[in-house]
Amino acid sequence: MAIELDEAITQAVALIGDSQSLVRVVLSGRRRNMQTPCERIDIRPVQIKDQIHIQVIENDGRQTTAKNFLPTEFNSLALLTSGFANILVEHVTGSLSIRISKKGEALVTRSKGSNEQVLTHDRNKNRLLNANDPFLVEVGISDAKGVIKPSKIDKYMQVEEFLRIIAPTLKNAIEAGQIHKPTKENPLSITDLGCGHAYLTFGAHQYLQAQGIPVSVVGIDIRPKSRDRNIAIAQKLRIEKSIEFRAEEIAETTASKTDVAIALHACDTATDDAIAWAVQSDAKLLFIAPCCHHDLQSQLSDIPEPWAMMTKHGLMKERMSDLLTDALRAQILRLLGYRVDVIEFIGGEHTPRNLMIRGVKTGAKPEAQDIARYEEMIAMWKVKPALAERLEKELVRSTSA
Ligand SMILES: C[S@@+](CC[C@H](N)C(=O)[O-])C[C@H]1O[C@@H](n2cnc3c(N)ncnc32)[C@H](O)[C@@H]1O
Repeated sequence: MAIELDEAITQAVALIGDSQSLVRVVLSGRRRNMQTPCERIDIRPVQIKDQIHIQVIENDGRQTTAKNFLPTEFNSLALLTSGFANILVEHVTGSLSIRISKKGEALVTRSKGSNEQVLTHDRNKNRLLNANDPFLVEVGISDAKGVIKPSKIDKYMQVEEFLRIIAPTLKNAIEAGQIHKPTKENPLSITDLGCGHAYLTFGAHQYLQAQGIPVSVVGIDIRPKSRDRNIAIAQKLRIEKSIEFRAEEIAETTASKTDVAIALHACDTATDDAIAWAVQSDAKLLFIAPCCHHDLQSQLSDIPEPWAMMTKHGLMKERMSDLLTDALRAQILRLLGYRVDVIEFIGGEHTPRNLMIRGVKTGAKPEAQDIARYEEMIAMWKVKPALAERLEKELVRSTSA
């Protein structure tokens, strides 16, 4: 394992040294019994005048400081071995991720995929949401000076990346006639299920309005305190006519219809409530990033062989049941006439819950093979997914037609 770590660090150093292809580096988390120089470090190449520099942004949990180095002066090895547990290096043709466990073992993942190198000095040029947008200040992501609070960077990034995925999918759906062209009289309706402090709810409202798309947004959360806080913010921003909040259980919500359903980390089976409500409300687009999963994990007792080999380890059992839960959610949506894909909406360094189920309603009849796969899967694992319980009637109708 130590060799694997050394090799991976050597590879990371080489990737960082290639400033023509480097996209960014993130160092976060702390290795057991080690002290890091700060909470998190972001590294990326930037063009200053005619020359590429390496920009190092250190975040100590309260403030961030940026320093620029010439590539020849930059010692990446010292930072990579300074006690961080998670190292992510993205380059134009892929990424290298190193996670160092409490035992000092390295989990190294190399993946292919294209990443864009952005060399502009001012990062805001690549942002969808301006850090000093008043809504970000009001919801508490930015401070009074319009600077993102270090403790809120991850949430800010989640909202940004979520919107980055919604925008083109929405545009395609409007062009394909799957969603009506939003107008002032008939705006696009968006419902955020389990909205909490409504970072994403306000983000979707402000971003899409700024893109010239009239919207009517509803945020639903079980907590009356969140509703009251969010309503007060909407009033302060004078947008209360096009954004509203309700303190309701998703399964019992009085909201009845929507074009687009979104849910970011709605807890456990609240995600199933959100998907079920969206399907029953005829949502045309679904963007669902699930949170913790407990439902199937507690049902996995009679394990089909040879899978017991994996479920005997608690950690692997948890991951398997997460995958099984989301695979079954995606398949149920497929059976109900949605085109579905499952994507990482953001890098794992911003949240370990970075999977998104994206569904576009096409109304297509399910393929016999998809029905068979689903039925075999739940029979083999002897499980009844929470989503299947909530959509029992719809599933019977769709798969027996
Ligand atoms: C982890 S927070 C995420 C909040 C927000 N979407 C975000 O990403 O910042 C989950 C939210 O779901 C809400 N929630 C959990 N179960 C719910 C349910 N059954 N109905 C409505 N809201 C629920 C909680 O009150 C909480 O605010």
